[in-house]
Amino acid sequence: AGVFTLDPGFTSTASCESHITYIDGDEGVLLYRGYPIDQLAENSSFIEVCYLLLHGELPDAAQLESFEKTITHHTMLHDQFDQFFRGFRRDAHPMAVMVGTVGALSAFYHDSTDINDPKARTIASHRMIAKMPTIAARAYKYSVGQPFVSPRNDLDFAANFLRMCFAVPAEDYEVNPVMARAMDRIFILHADHEQNASTSTVRLAGSSGANPFACIASGIASLWGPAHGGANEAALNMLEEIGSVDRIPEYIAKAKDKNDPFRLMGFGHRVYKNYDPRAKVMRTTCHEVLKEVGETDDPLLAVALELEKIALEDPYFVEKKLYPNIDFYSGITLRAMGFPTSMFTVLFALARTVGWIAQWTEMLEDPTQKIGRPRQLFAGATERDYVAIDKR
Ligand code: CMC
Repeated sequence: AGVFTLDPGFTSTASCESHITYIDGDEGVLLYRGYPIDQLAENSSFIEVCYLLLHGELPDAAQLESFEKTITHHTMLHDQFDQFFRGFRRDAHPMAVMVGTVGALSAFYHDSTDINDPKARTIASHRMIAKMPTIAARAYKYSVGQPFVSPRNDLDFAANFLRMCFAVPAEDYEVNPVMARAMDRIFILHADHEQNASTSTVRLAGSSGANPFACIASGIASLWGPAHGGANEAALNMLEEIGSVDRIPEYIAKAKDKNDPFRLMGFGHRVYKNYDPRAKVMRTTCHEVLKEVGETDDPLLAVALELEKIALEDPYFVEKKLYPNIDFYSGITLRAMGFPTSMFTVLFALARTVGWIAQWTEMLEDPTQKIGRPRQLFAGATERDYVAIDKR
């Protein structure tokens, strides 16, 4: 037996000690290894942030160059791996494709599955960071019926990804630097976020000693939900449904109605009870991208800005400290960049992979690490005798 404390949703239980990401939800602070998210988004690159999250320190020039080389070395996919995509229906949700194909990596790379060997762990980590953009771009290409585009290792991480998504045969494709910078920033902003649902899922899966690729697939599965990574997709769908500024009050009323399960997607956060610091950066990036594509008069942006204004002033949202979160702006930005809504959560998964890996590695290197095994407060039937079917 034993006495256990009930803590639904783990709102007051720390599952681990971590050195990676710090959040002060009341102050709206997010630090990766001590560095503020806005400074990283402004001055760093996603690949440098990957190094930082994995190693704990910013790289010097030689370390960065060597890390970049290692990652680009692993961007290709095994030829047989491509067969997996063809097994899916074309209208499959790209997140379904991601869960399946990333899990399938476990069947390919047998030299990187010994989780007790630090070298094998490192190779698995590099492989996942490098292959995720290739897999994500293939999931997109498959859904639109276009041929796969191979990675180009002379391009940087974000530019290579955009090219794999949007280049088509027989047409020139030049990566737009504004889009590449925005993509890179979106990846930086989503790279880690301490013990959220998907990261905790990866840690829990990994705590049993499971295959690293399978652990990341479990994180992708958890991320898919609309209360987590699926919120960017849900937020854009909601803006489209609202459609015009005059319909906003109707939706605000629905969100406030206790008897209506509707929530304003892209608002509220378990930890941030202040403006999400990522949302601030995302808001600027959103405007840059819309300006670049000439869509500053996008009606959805007007709806978004008005919704933001109302929610920041309305007593319901103010009292409950429901501020816009990162997903509120990322949806509009990604749409302007040319991504269909169904790809939004895939991009989140791509970026979060490094965070999952850093957290998974930290857990395995922690000498106090044990298999995760929460207990329960049992509230079901007490012991009783089996009753034959004709006696029930
Ligand atoms: N619209 C309307 N009311 C809301 C909302 C919302 N978006 N979010 C929370 N509330 C209300 C909720 O009804 C509850 O009211 P009451 O105390 O009267 O019952 C109160 O605020 C507290 O909500 P909660 O559900 O107890 O809070 P939580 O910490 O369990 O949930 C959340 C956090 C993010 C799941 C929730 O705010 C939500 O569903 N937001 C919309 C989905 C979303 O944008 N998710 C993205 C999160 S950021 C990216 C990520 O982490 O992946």
